[in-house]
Amino acid sequence: MRSQGVRKRQFLGLITVLAVALAACGGGSSSDTTAGGEGAATTAGESAGELVTVGFAQTGSESGWRSANTESMKTAFSEENGFELIFNAADNDPAAQIAAVRGFINQGVDAIVIAPIVEDGWEDVLQEAADAEIPVILEDRTVTAPEDLYATWVGLDFKREGVYAGEWAAETFGDTPTKMVVLEGTTGSAPANDRAEGFDEATAETAIEKIDSQTGDFTRDGGKTVMEGFLTKYGVDGIDLVYAHNDDMALGAIEAIEAAGGVPGEDIQIVSIDAVHDGMQALIDGKINYIVECNPLLGELAAGFVNSVLAGEEVEKRNYVEDQTFTQEQAEEALPDRLY
Ligand code: AHR
Repeated sequence: MRSQGVRKRQFLGLITVLAVALAACGGGSSSDTTAGGEGAATTAGESAGELVTVGFAQTGSESGWRSANTESMKTAFSEENGFELIFNAADNDPAAQIAAVRGFINQGVDAIVIAPIVEDGWEDVLQEAADAEIPVILEDRTVTAPEDLYATWVGLDFKREGVYAGEWAAETFGDTPTKMVVLEGTTGSAPANDRAEGFDEATAETAIEKIDSQTGDFTRDGGKTVMEGFLTKYGVDGIDLVYAHNDDMALGAIEAIEAAGGVPGEDIQIVSIDAVHDGMQALIDGKINYIVECNPLLGELAAGFVNSVLAGEEVEKRNYVEDQTFTQEQAEEALPDRLY
């Protein structure tokens, strides 16, 4: 039987500390820490009476999450806060993103912030930034390059997000034979890799069978197109569960299921990650069954790290922002106060 007994996890909300405060205290080491929220960023440029020039290489504009992240970054890296921001969105093209970073190096910016589209292939350009003595701060996604090639990273624990989604699926479906399809994020990206790994670990002992898995590139259109293919192949009756690596792909899947005559959330259950506004509304409407949050509001933390690094302070290498999870009831309560 499909149990709805979902363990309720209420994290303390977004904001626990610490990385910026720790950095300010000079308490650096190579260990991880948990950071949080939109805390105050000191402004190195302001105190020096001039703006700090920062090149930001964003992934693109693939999702609602990305729009919220871009807005958070632009707000934090404002002139008012002492920054001149040079913004580039690479339209999800890894080569274009690396070229943008090279452009920042050639311009001689004070610091570079990157939300890396994919994990691999960063060694050369990070080394070039290091040779030019321009510090690199990673936000959101991680890279496989050696840690000494960048100053710090701030973002979410993608594997843990996958574990939370998988724990919900395990508790909901358990021993019931369940046919699952997966809408993967961008191939080679940290969230796609880690969310797959976490979910698979959490559901390893269940009767959930992954019958298909394809990338929808974190976009609504991509999710819809891939789901249409799955429905043509297996039919509404041949799929019990969709695991979408983000809300936008889940929203595309909802459109595909409805067009195929199915009822999303009932005929086919859906679990996804992000908790952006449209996803939360679909959860409240019963079309998505469970959502794991991925907090996009990383701007002030990233700006704080830029200032700390430029001031020569030691900072933690990895700084995690906490996420929470939402059932339908929890989404109803939370949505009115959410910032994205
Ligand atoms: O890297 C974070 C992921 O990127 C978000 O989950 C997804 O919506 C975005 O495109």
